[in-house]
Amino acid sequence: MSSYRRALSGDWYTDPVVFADEMDRIFARTWQLVGHVGQLAEPGDYLTASVGDQGVAVTRLADGSLHAMYNVCQHRGHELLTDDVGHTSSLTCPYHAWNYDLDGRLLHARGESVGEICVPSVRLDTLGGFLWVNLDDDAASLSDTVPDIEDELLAVAPSAAGRTLTHRRTHLVSANWKLAVENYNECYHCPNVHKSFTKGVVSPGSYRIAGRGQAIRHSAEAPASTGYSLAEGGQPYESFFVFPVSSIQCYPGEVLNTFRWVPLAVDRTLLIREWWFDSDTPTAEQHEIIDLDWRTTVSEDFSILDSVQRGLRSRGYVPGPLIERPDGVATVHSEDAVPHLHDLVRAALGR
Ligand code: FES
Ligand SMILES: [Fe+2]
Repeated sequence: MSSYRRALSGDWYTDPVVFADEMDRIFARTWQLVGHVGQLAEPGDYLTASVGDQGVAVTRLADGSLHAMYNVCQHRGHELLTDDVGHTSSLTCPYHAWNYDLDGRLLHARGESVGEICVPSVRLDTLGGFLWVNLDDDAASLSDTVPDIEDELLAVAPSAAGRTLTHRRTHLVSANWKLAVENYNECYHCPNVHKSFTKGVVSPGSYRIAGRGQAIRHSAEAPASTGYSLAEGGQPYESFFVFPVSSIQCYPGEVLNTFRWVPLAVDRTLLIREWWFDSDTPTAEQHEIIDLDWRTTVSEDFSILDSVQRGLRSRGYVPGPLIERPDGVATVHSEDAVPHLHDLVRAALGR
C-alpha cells in the first residue's frame, strides 16, 4: 500500500506568496456566496460582503432588479457602504459625501462637474435564492460551474428561495482558509472530534462525501431514533459545498444554514455561520438548535484548526498519506475530498 497520495507541504498554508497567488487565481475568479435575496426584499435594501480581499455590495434597485458592484468610492477610495446590511435611497460616501445611485452611478460630487463616473459592477447570480458573486467577467456561469446543485438543493429544501437571514455567528480561526475547508469536507475526524454530531444529528455509517468538479456533496441519513430535534422527521442531511469557500447545509426538517470562510491572511480565516428560516428572529426552538450546533460541532473544530496551523509550521512535519476509498467517495473512515480540494487548488494556481 505505497500508492497513497500525500497531504500538501506546510508552505502551502504558511507562505504569503502562495496566499497572494490564491487571491488572484482563486478568489478573484470563482463564485462565492454572499447572502440571500430575502435580505434584499425592498428597493434600497443592500448588503456588503468580502470576496477574498475585495469588498462588494449588492443592492436592490428601484426597478426591483439586483445589482452587485465593488464597494469602493470612485473619488479617493473610501468604502461606500460600511454596514453588513441596510436600507438607503442613495449611497453617500462617508469621506467627502459624494453621492451615488443604487447602481453605482455618480449623482452628485458636492456640486462639482466631474464627468460621468460609475462604480465597477461585478457579476451576480442566484442559486435557490442564495446570492453569489464572481469578480471574473469571463468565468463560466454559476449553473455551468456547479450543474444540478440548485435542483438538488430545492429537492430537499423546496422553500429555500423564500428564506431570510435569521441568525449569524462568526469566529476568527488562526488557520489558513484551506485547512478550514479541508476540515469541513472530511468526516474522517468526526467519530473522534464530534461525539454529539455522530451520536445525534446523522447516522455516521451513512455519511458520504463526494467531489464533483467545483462542488463537493455531503449526504447522510438521519438516525432512526434520537433526542436531537434537528433529526426528527427522518429526512436526510445534505450539504452543497462550492469551491473555494461557500457551503449550504440542509438538515432534517428543512433547516438551512450556510458556511462562508473569508481568507484574511495566510494564517487567519473568518468563519461566518448563518441560519436561514422565514423570519429575522429565531423562535426559542430555532435558537436552541443554533446554540447547540455552535457549542458542539462548530466550536469543536476551532482548536483543531489552530493546532494544525501551528503543526504545519513545524520543521518536523512530513506530509502524510491521505486515506482514500477505491470509489473516491468518503465515509467517516476516509478523507477523499481532501485530495479533490488539493487538485482544484493546484489546477487554479498551476503548481
Ligand atoms: S473618497 Fe468618497 S467622497 Fe472622497
Ligand atoms: Fe469538524
